[in-house]
Amino acid sequence: MTQHETHHDPTSIRICVIGAGYVGLTAGACLAHLGHTVVCTDQSVLRVQELQRGTLRIVEDGLPDIVERMVALGRLRFSADNVESVGDADFVFLCLPTPQSEDGSADLSHVLDVAREIGPHLRPDAIVVDKSTVPVGTSTLVLDALGRLDVMVAANPEFLAEGTAVRDFLHPDRVVVGSDQPGAAERVGSLYKALDTHLITTDAASAETIKYASNAYLAVRLSFVNSMAGVCEAAGADIAAVMDGVGSDHRIGRAFLTPGPGWGGSCFPKDTSALLHTSYARGFDFTLLRSATDYNREHQRWMVSKVLATLGDEVEGAVVAMWGLAFKAGTDDLRDSPAIEIARQLTERGCVVRAFDPAVRHHVPGVTVCTSYVEACRGARTLVIATEWPEFIGADLGAAGRVMQDRALVDLRNLLHPDTAAAHGFRYEGVGRARSGVADRNVQVAG
Ligand code: UDX
Repeated sequence: MTQHETHHDPTSIRICVIGAGYVGLTAGACLAHLGHTVVCTDQSVLRVQELQRGTLRIVEDGLPDIVERMVALGRLRFSADNVESVGDADFVFLCLPTPQSEDGSADLSHVLDVAREIGPHLRPDAIVVDKSTVPVGTSTLVLDALGRLDVMVAANPEFLAEGTAVRDFLHPDRVVVGSDQPGAAERVGSLYKALDTHLITTDAASAETIKYASNAYLAVRLSFVNSMAGVCEAAGADIAAVMDGVGSDHRIGRAFLTPGPGWGGSCFPKDTSALLHTSYARGFDFTLLRSATDYNREHQRWMVSKVLATLGDEVEGAVVAMWGLAFKAGTDDLRDSPAIEIARQLTERGCVVRAFDPAVRHHVPGVTVCTSYVEACRGARTLVIATEWPEFIGADLGAAGRVMQDRALVDLRNLLHPDTAAAHGFRYEGVGRARSGVADRNVQVAG
């Protein structure tokens, strides 16, 4: 038990978290861990019942444990009733989906519908906090939707990465809170006072923009790194060595300099699209960000061409094994996963994709999901590593190779050492590694 883990204290701050998805559940459980009394609501009665029984649908390191402990301490409970749950809350966190609309903008209907629903039931002086990633101006729209003059609104963007969400929440680089109403940002900031972190308070628009700017910057950075992988192959340089050198500059830093199959997930594609849309709508054409998102698509086509090159002229009917389907390790999330897009493009060309992912057991359209990494390799001509699961590093390549028809390995995460692959008879191809070929990339660029 840690210093914060005492039983429910009736004088503690009462928080209602609306939306028990990945962000809401993490935020709710962690806010309870900080000593607050939290009710987490969801419109799905089924999900609430599952949570009440202790079943979590989300794969997230440490989350089941913290949820169980907080429920046992009486500091966290679940409900399907927003109206009843907000009634005595000092703070109401909105952790609702903001999906991408057809025009690329963020769809705010969930956020605004809930604001309209709860507005009349808030206690005076309550603060409604946007944790969802929302475009500039949303705080004002939420305040209007609440229809109250005696409550306040603040933006408190989350910076949780899937797979490390609990750690990111409890050990943040910073906490950002913005509001245009006096005192609101400070009151929300005080909820985090048990954390050893840096609190940044701003106006609402700046807080909302910080979240988009952070994700957009990281996406641009990754498109830069993935492009540099192409430069390295052309120059005969090694991307890891280059990025070690580049990342040693304290102004740059080493994180987020690893090339891969392209960036994906539930945030980067949606948030870059929303930022492009908002900027354009307000008169600024963010061409740098547009190039980075266009390059991400081009990069995935390049990755596909690496795989096709191993198959020569016999692509139709060729079996390709894919290790990893999730957009990154540590999650079962397939949303905008580069692995899924690459599998789609391969099947479109006539390949048969057999995949194994330690976190994905359910049906995935167009792909045969196998129960082991060796099984995925049965009859395959090429093995593609698409997700950086640590278990693939120590995988038995001999056993995998024995059930394959041919031994080509396209390592889109540069996870294995080329010599290890070669020792098991594999022709190895990575991304931006000194020994990777340049020909296919040139063909792709010209095409
Ligand atoms: C991201 C942000 O990091 C987080 O702050 C925000 O709240 C939500 O979006 P997440 O989507 O969970 O988090 O994934 P992240 O770990 O940031 O990875 C995003 C993509 O970049 C993945 O496709 C990942 O594989 C890729 N990536 C990341 C690389 O290709 N190379 C790297 O060095 C790092």
